[in-house]
Amino acid sequence: MALTDFDMVLFGGSGDLAMRKLLPALYALDRTKGLPRSARIICIGRHDWSLQDFLNAVNENAKPHIPPESLTQASWDAFCARFLYVALDASDAGTYQALVDAVRTGTDITRVFYLATPPSLFATICHNLAACGLASPNSRVVLEKPLGRDLESAKRINAEVGRVFSESQIFRIDHYLGKEAVQNLLALRFGNVLFEPLWRREWISDVQITIAEELGVGNRMGYYETSGALRDMLQNHLLQLLCIVAMEPPVSVTPDAVRDEKLKVLRSLKRFTPTMLAQNVIRGQYRSGHVDGVAVPSYRNEPDANPQSRTETFVAVKAEIDTWRWAGVPFYLRTGKRMADQLAEIVVRFKSLPHSIFAQPVGTFQPNSLVIRLQPDEGLHLNLMAKTPGDGMRLKPVDLELDFRETFKTPRMDAYERLLMDVLRGQLTLFMRSDELEAAWEWVEPIIDFWEQEENAPIPYTAGTWGPAAASALIGRDGLQWREEALPEV
Ligand code: BG6
Repeated sequence: MALTDFDMVLFGGSGDLAMRKLLPALYALDRTKGLPRSARIICIGRHDWSLQDFLNAVNENAKPHIPPESLTQASWDAFCARFLYVALDASDAGTYQALVDAVRTGTDITRVFYLATPPSLFATICHNLAACGLASPNSRVVLEKPLGRDLESAKRINAEVGRVFSESQIFRIDHYLGKEAVQNLLALRFGNVLFEPLWRREWISDVQITIAEELGVGNRMGYYETSGALRDMLQNHLLQLLCIVAMEPPVSVTPDAVRDEKLKVLRSLKRFTPTMLAQNVIRGQYRSGHVDGVAVPSYRNEPDANPQSRTETFVAVKAEIDTWRWAGVPFYLRTGKRMADQLAEIVVRFKSLPHSIFAQPVGTFQPNSLVIRLQPDEGLHLNLMAKTPGDGMRLKPVDLELDFRETFKTPRMDAYERLLMDVLRGQLTLFMRSDELEAAWEWVEPIIDFWEQEENAPIPYTAGTWGPAAASALIGRDGLQWREEALPEV
C-alpha cells in the first residue's frame, strides 16, 4: 500500500529517543520503503538552533545508530533534505506560530505529531495544537510510554488528549509490540493448530517472561528517577508480552479485535492484596559490580544520581490470571538493568511427564518448553526429549530451533520502523487503546502504593548478576528456577 504524503512533527526532536531510535528508523524506512518524495520531518526543540545546527546534531547523535552497511552518502543527503527544525516552547501556545507556518495545509497530507516528551506535556501539547488549528481530522498523534505515572494521571492524559483527538487518531506506542518475535508469537499461536489445544492450564505449568539488560541508565537519569523499572518496563512491555501469550484467539487482527482480547487479560489479572505483595513482588537496585568484565558503578553513584535513591532498577513479579484457561498457572515476570546478560525471552513450560515407560525415572525427563527469543537473537526454540543414538533407550533433551534471520534471510526490521510505518498507514492493531492502558495501571497501582512505604525499599543486587537472591526465591518457592539458572554451564 503506497503511503500518502505526510508531515511528521517530532516533539522532543533533539532528544535521546529521537536520535537513538526514531530518526534511524525513519532513515531505514526512507531507504527501504521509499517515503513519499515530498514527505517531511519537522523536529521541534527548545534550542534556538538553525537547521544546520540541528543537522549537525543529527550527524553526531543519530547517524552512529545507523548500521554502516545501510548508509550511503546519497540516501543520507536525501534523508536530511526532509528536515525542518522549529524552536518552540511546547508548553507555551504563544510560540506555536513557527510550527503553523512550517506545517503544510491540504487534506491529502497526513499530519503525524509524535510526542517523544515527558508525559506531563502530552495534554498541554495537544491543547496547544488544537488552539492553533493544527489538530485537523487528517492528524494522528503518537504518545510515547510511560503514559502517566499512575492510574489517575493516565486517566487524565487519556481524557485531555481525547478532547482533541479521537481514539482512532491516537497511537499509544509500546515498541515491544513491534518486535518480530512478538508478531511471530501471534503467528505461532493462531497460524498453527498444534499449540492452541495445549495452550491452557491443563498442559502448561508456568510462563516466564524476562527482559534483562546489561546497560545501566546511561544519560537518562533524570527520566529514570521518575520512572524506575516498574513504570519503565513492567507496566507496559512486560504486561503487553503477557497479554500476547495469554489472550484468547481474536476473531481477526483488526485493532479492536486484538485489543479487546488483550484488555480481557489485563482485567483478569489477580489483584494484589498487601500480603500477596510482600510475597510476590521483588524490587531491586544495583550496586557496583562487573558487567562483561567491566567494572560499573552502583546506581546511586551513576552520573546525576541521587545518593539516597529508592528507585528500583529491577522488578520480579509472580502474576496470575483468573480465567478458566489460566487459573493456577503462574506467570513470572522480571526485568532489570545491569544484569548478567542481555536477554529478552518468553518461556512457556509444559507439564511434567505423567509416567515413564522407559528405564529412566520420570524425574529425568525435562518438561517440554517453548522459548520465544526476542533478544539478542530472534527465534523460537522447542525443547523436546529424544532418544540418543545407539544401543539402548536413553532419552535426553534436544532443541528444535527456528532462527528468523537464518530462515527468512531478509534484513531485520527494527520495532520502531514497523510501528512508524503502521502510524503512517493508520494501522492501530499494535498500539494500546485507552482502556487497556488504564487496566494495566490499575493492576500495578497496589505495587506503587506498597513501595511507597518506608520499609519496602529496593533490595541491593550486584551489577552483572541476575538480580536479588529474593527473585530466585520467589520462583524457587514453587519448585522452579528461572531458565538461565536451570541451564547447564556451557
Ligand atoms: C525502553 C525503556 O522502553 O525500552 C528503556 O525506556 C529500555 O529503559 C528499553 O532500555 C529496552 O528496549 P529494547 O528494545 O532495547 O529491549
